[in-house]
Amino acid sequence: MSQRRPVTPDESVEYEREDVSVLVIGAGAAGARTAIELAERGVDDVLVLGKRGHGDAHTTWARGGINGALGTHDDADSPAIHAADTLNEGHFLNDPAKVETVTEQMPARLRELDEWGMAYSRTDDGAIDQRFFGAQSFRRTAFAGDHTGESLLDTLVGRAQELSVPYRENVMITKLVSDGEAVYGAVGYDMDDGEFVLFNAGTVVLAAGGHAAIYDRHTSRDDENNGDGAALAYDAGASLMDMEFMQFHPTGMAVDESDPDWEPWSGRLVTEAVRGEGGRLFNADGERFMERYSPDQMELDARDVVARAIATEVAEGRGTENGGVYLDISHRDADFIRERLPRMYERFDDLGVDMAEEPVEVAPTSHYGMGGVAVDDAGETSVDGLFAIGETMAGVHGANRLGGNSLAETVAYGVVAGERVAERADGPGAVPDDLRERLVEPHLSDLREMANSDGDHDVDAVLAALRELMWDHAGIRRDEASLRAGLDRLNEVRERAANMRVGSVTSESFELAVDVGFMLTAAEAVLRGALAREESRGAHYRTDFPDLDPDWRQNVYFDAADVGGMRLRTEAVDDPSEAVQAALDEGHELDYHQLE
Ligand code: FUM
Repeated sequence: MSQRRPVTPDESVEYEREDVSVLVIGAGAAGARTAIELAERGVDDVLVLGKRGHGDAHTTWARGGINGALGTHDDADSPAIHAADTLNEGHFLNDPAKVETVTEQMPARLRELDEWGMAYSRTDDGAIDQRFFGAQSFRRTAFAGDHTGESLLDTLVGRAQELSVPYRENVMITKLVSDGEAVYGAVGYDMDDGEFVLFNAGTVVLAAGGHAAIYDRHTSRDDENNGDGAALAYDAGASLMDMEFMQFHPTGMAVDESDPDWEPWSGRLVTEAVRGEGGRLFNADGERFMERYSPDQMELDARDVVARAIATEVAEGRGTENGGVYLDISHRDADFIRERLPRMYERFDDLGVDMAEEPVEVAPTSHYGMGGVAVDDAGETSVDGLFAIGETMAGVHGANRLGGNSLAETVAYGVVAGERVAERADGPGAVPDDLRERLVEPHLSDLREMANSDGDHDVDAVLAALRELMWDHAGIRRDEASLRAGLDRLNEVRERAANMRVGSVTSESFELAVDVGFMLTAAEAVLRGALAREESRGAHYRTDFPDLDPDWRQNVYFDAADVGGMRLRTEAVDDPSEAVQAALDEGHELDYHQLE
């Protein structure tokens, strides 16, 4: 918190206390799958915390699918080829061991979800159907229409309920209790009644999502993906990694922002499944422009390639009135579209556009941070007992994520982290007295002071300024001068954030004021990382260093320094296993023309 003042004994802050062995922060797919693993391994002294109601998490907005080499249609597919595709499109900045952890597990994880009742779309003979997704050699993306995240979370929550996993809703965590060596719990507040809470926990699993919403135009739900997980871990002494890599999804809705019906949809996701089912991109001149950028993979090239192509078309004057291009699937049968893409069809239909008859307008939008918290092979950070998984962790996706690999990572790492946590969970944790006095109580005092504070700046305006500067300075194209100017603007935002007008603890502005603190950390790391990486690779495109530099096959780590703030260092990336190298040498790639 920015406004710290000394705490004197007569200023004690009241707080509730809960003691658990394992605290899981975040109740989306990653958190739920971890808790299921723990319950199945007999660890029941667990508490899962969610910022929203039970069963409601950002996972529900994941749409197009979840990857795993089941080979429903393409029996040549394998986990090794899945790993090879993931490394290729991550431009070899991914940690190969983490990639293999995910790809090896996924066939079993997909079948397990089937046993637990997931509403997959199916082939005529009842198998789990798989569709094309960008830059993948085979149809590997299992799906439930275009509401895969919703079905996944329903399934996981149902399973967790069967296992009586303890859950507490509407709690926001504001700080982890750590001495930099080990974690002892977390503090936060109950968003319903405003009570502060100290959770004593010997193990903490951060499954708190990503930071894509630090950008103005983004696909995240309101008030989510503001970098909670990354900032909490960094503050606790863990390192961040790969923060310069932000995925801009090629197809966010491009709308007339002066129209109140359309404005709220600006930047919202139009799932890659539209292109996976044959959707084509056209510029305002009616040209199928991907023929120029990627004649072999066309609209299903990697997201960074398609997003830059769209941005170029718009920048060079071939965009639509609303600053996008057209996405057209009207050559497909209306029944097919309604069956495979029901949510997309309904959304546009409600807005008066029939996707079976006409194209929709799309443009790139911030979607996913490839970077996050640096962890080992089981998701544990350098802080003993602190884990980070799902979108909160870094390492699986490298410089550019494949669509469908994020949901895969949530369940695969839920299991892997769950196994390790189960081995170490040994009864309720206890926050040492000195940490309670020098860390917990001053922090709660800061929170109390922030509530109802009457500063000069509106929280919404500070938040908007931060998001705007990230879009302007650390977007699809970056260069040194712009990134430096972005850091200057960030410092101005930081000053305003120290002087905000905030409501009571239960108000939305209080939640957002806490978010602003998280966002400042994530934004600084993105800007600094992008400035440090003097090359272009995957989603990070420097106009002043437009080529990939083999010497930059290194991850950038962000450590908290005692003096001078964030400190950056680099480490070389490991090589793939022999099996994955063999798959890479075989040179598999997507054959787009199967779709035509
Ligand atoms: O376009 C989509 O449906 C997004 C999927 C993903 O990011 O994995």
